[in-house]
Amino acid sequence: MCGIIGAAAERDVVPILIEGLKRLEYRGYDSAGLAVIDYPSHTLERLRVIGKVEVLEKSLKQTSLCSPIGIAHTRWATHGKPSQENAHPHISRDTIAVVHNGIVENYAPLRSLLEQRGYEFTSETDTEVIAHLIHYYSQQGMKLTQAVQTSLQELRGSYAIAVISMLEPNSVVAARRGSPLVIGVGIGENFVASDVAALIPVTQRVIFLEEGDLVTLQRDNYQILDFSGTPVTRPIHVSQLQADAVERGTYRHYMKKEIFEQPRALAETLGNRIHNGKVLEASFGHHAQHLFDKVESVQIIACGTSYHAGLVARYWLESIAKIPCTVEVASEFRYRQPLPNPKALVVTISQSGETADTLAALLEAKRLGFGPSLSICNVPESSLVRASDMVLMTHAGPEIGVASTKAFTTQLLALLLLCVVLGRRHGLSAAQEAEIVHAMETLPGAIEKALGLDKQLQVLAERFADKHHTLFLGRGIHYPIAMEGALKLKEISYIHAEAYPAGELKHGPLALIDNDMPVIAVAPNDALQEKLKSNLQEVHARGGQLFVFANHRAVLPASEFLEIIELGEVNEIISPIVYAVPLQLLAYYVALIKGTDVDKPRNLAKSVTVE
Ligand code: M6R
Repeated sequence: MCGIIGAAAERDVVPILIEGLKRLEYRGYDSAGLAVIDYPSHTLERLRVIGKVEVLEKSLKQTSLCSPIGIAHTRWATHGKPSQENAHPHISRDTIAVVHNGIVENYAPLRSLLEQRGYEFTSETDTEVIAHLIHYYSQQGMKLTQAVQTSLQELRGSYAIAVISMLEPNSVVAARRGSPLVIGVGIGENFVASDVAALIPVTQRVIFLEEGDLVTLQRDNYQILDFSGTPVTRPIHVSQLQADAVERGTYRHYMKKEIFEQPRALAETLGNRIHNGKVLEASFGHHAQHLFDKVESVQIIACGTSYHAGLVARYWLESIAKIPCTVEVASEFRYRQPLPNPKALVVTISQSGETADTLAALLEAKRLGFGPSLSICNVPESSLVRASDMVLMTHAGPEIGVASTKAFTTQLLALLLLCVVLGRRHGLSAAQEAEIVHAMETLPGAIEKALGLDKQLQVLAERFADKHHTLFLGRGIHYPIAMEGALKLKEISYIHAEAYPAGELKHGPLALIDNDMPVIAVAPNDALQEKLKSNLQEVHARGGQLFVFANHRAVLPASEFLEIIELGEVNEIISPIVYAVPLQLLAYYVALIKGTDVDKPRNLAKSVTVE
């Protein structure tokens, strides 16, 4: 769950490493560091700090580090607390420096072995064993590539690494097993990083390394070896990612930018996947028609916000497509020993496509003998995409804020597209399909309108900022939206928030209601509104402060305990997508008042690539 980058060039690579790290901070940000072979002193120099890349950047200003070769790292702590000693790169005997993303499972026996060989450990990390192992083999006369290869054979776990050595000061060696790694091919300079976004400022020509690959790169060439050590050629892709697509522009935070990008992101996700009132099945890939024909049920697997998207989809799949659907958190699914159903379509949902639990759950479903797999993902070429039979990309563009916003709403749209193509096979008529397609077409406009509540929500946020808890209520398809609203609020404002299906209120949570516990209700004008109204009366009667997101003011009689946030008329099919937006904005403004780090909330990372 860390970000790594390495560079070999003719020019000074320090600014390139720093810019790359900034673009990788979504993978972790509790400490950062870099190591370079300093020019002209020809010494291995390292700088590490606790905190974000900007702290590292400031510290660099006190140095004169300058080098054509280096590696760098931004960390999300797994082994060992966030501290300077545990920050990467890790160095062995002033000779070898390593940055690492992932986990070495057998680091404890390796550490004992290396201690017996006389190596001294200065950190609590699993990474340090890699540095010492490579040093050990280098001392046996191996070239750096071979020393890395041999060391990796001793490691168990999943990781990506980048290494530099004083013994071969012109090379960076990098390898991947289970964690992503991309080569950036420049003109007279080469790079390696966890992700394309880190390389975009220097090159758009990228090579996605495959599982088990190792690359040795110098500024003017590179050689890739596959898992067996055989030289291989991997295709160069020209990335479509724009450098400014991951810049904040005039927005104070990525999260706000990403919330406001939703109309465009949704329009792009819908793109040319519909025509004349129909969803084009080819959008799911060449084999989709044949694979969907066999499907009798759907198993959705995901984590966090993506899981909430799956929960919404269950309502659509059962009510519109008339197909049974179960939804499960990936970390539970993978260890539950579920009974396989070869006619169940396995749908994994993930913004990053690198979430370790989701990927492992998909592999487990395949191993057990579930049916075909479809991944709904925002990152092309990600591990999840590559492991799935079919893919439906969300075209949200890079999502940098840790709190997922535009990825969520585009996932929902993608799931609605899926619902239509499966529904066709279970009695969805052409007229019903046309109605859904029309609703999807109106979505960008409906979201624009919801964004118009921005100022009102900014003011409303003040009512939450001093609270310690908030309860979210919803019914039916809007219950998962209430869950998503609660997740947004807790992850960026650190206010404890919980969501309940409103009907559950009197079975326990009602005891919590007093005037210090604001209650947010997601209450559009759907079939369940009348029932929800009674639940809200229960809160009202006990002096709870109610904030109701509804189509119209008429939902409840006005009172000093009640505030209605009106969204106006919203098409029922797309209503969950629209109602997600004001909850994102509310969470954003509460966090802003509380002064938290909105884009990088404490203890979290954007991409959870460890179990
Ligand atoms: O990349 P993924 O969609 O697989 O990530 C899953 C969760 O880690 C993610 O949605 C997380 O819950 C978000 N930070 C919530 O905003």
